[in-house]
Amino acid sequence: MLDFDRLIAERARSIDASGIRRVFDLGAKLADPINLSIGQPDFPVPEPIKRAALQAIEDDRNGYTVTQGLPVLRETVAKRLSDELGWSLDLGAKPTGDPRLIITSGTSGSLLLASMALLNPGDEMIIPDPYFPMYPQLARLTGATPVLCDTYPDFRLTAERVEPLITDRTKFVLLNSPGNPHGVVATGKDCRELLELCRDKGVLLISDEIYDEFCFDDAREPTDGPFGPMLPSPAREAGSAEDVLLIRGFGKTYACTGWRLGYAAGPARIIEEMAKLQQYTFVCAPAPLQLGVAEAFGCDMDPHVAEYKGRRDLVLDRLGQATDIAKPGGAFYAFPQVPDHLGISAQEFVERCIERSVLVIPGGVFSTRDTHFRISYATDRRSLERGLDALAELMSA
Ligand SMILES: Cc1ncc(COP(=O)(O)O)c(C=O)c1O
Repeated sequence: MLDFDRLIAERARSIDASGIRRVFDLGAKLADPINLSIGQPDFPVPEPIKRAALQAIEDDRNGYTVTQGLPVLRETVAKRLSDELGWSLDLGAKPTGDPRLIITSGTSGSLLLASMALLNPGDEMIIPDPYFPMYPQLARLTGATPVLCDTYPDFRLTAERVEPLITDRTKFVLLNSPGNPHGVVATGKDCRELLELCRDKGVLLISDEIYDEFCFDDAREPTDGPFGPMLPSPAREAGSAEDVLLIRGFGKTYACTGWRLGYAAGPARIIEEMAKLQQYTFVCAPAPLQLGVAEAFGCDMDPHVAEYKGRRDLVLDRLGQATDIAKPGGAFYAFPQVPDHLGISAQEFVERCIERSVLVIPGGVFSTRDTHFRISYATDRRSLERGLDALAELMSA
């Protein structure tokens, strides 16, 4: 009999996945749950993307690609970043394209490769609290320390909040806008000040913008480029790929989370290290699917974004009177507080929700606090309305 206590590494053992699993285990017992816990869009992959992926498979484009990603996709992304952010990436660079851009296996791939490229044991990374649950694990996987920046109650990672946390061990600050679990969008001023602080202190600013296209018009800010008002970004404030590492993905905004496609763009020295690490780990992102998402930027996602904004308004309308909610400017989440008068933790509140067949995620999964809960409104309006009615009732009980 193998002694697994001896065999399993500390890095795996130190990860506790029990919080979210408990919700899913409880939810699995429900016959017809109202599921407001899902972190992916509820519309299908746009047709041109599907067709291009199918065509690529038919055309036998199923082998490895160069580690950095297929030139056609890299050129498409580089053009987008030039138009949207004013970055002058070299579209035709040979043989593997501009060294400041890499296609990865999901946004998670970029986050992991960046952490592996940057963090030594004992180093520190500053992340917001609440956070996307992968963030603190990136530190655990590399022997580094996650330093949490408390962003309650408005969920803004501001320079003022971050500055006291920077030490000589800090390697990077990780901004996520629109943010998971709350949907809050950083303002242009927040982005500018955070960038200035990072530049000043000599630390890298990483911007996880996986929900970039899902920024509602009331959170966008004017830009000089051809797209008009867009998501505020430190990448645009920086104007070049020199000192911001931009990480984005296709899964959340084009509904293909299972295709595992994302990209990172930033300083050549860092991207080259990430490419080296990708070569010996993921090897490359899925080949025919890279050809699929090469069509992504031609797809009009505005109707979906408008629909999600409508659902966001519904959430604020129905729950805003019962509790405090920071206004989401994008993504498809809201992070309301469990009302104080109930005198219970978010975990306990979520258990009450599950008794009413509503699935939401307790804040403790995303935070050191267990005072809020995450709603995903990536679900049909009827279910959302039923779920919100039940939540409002539970909150006013
Ligand atoms: C903020 C954030 N970053 C990264 C990811 C990972 O995305 P991907 O599926 O592209 O790896 C997620 C997924 O939920 C996320 O919410």
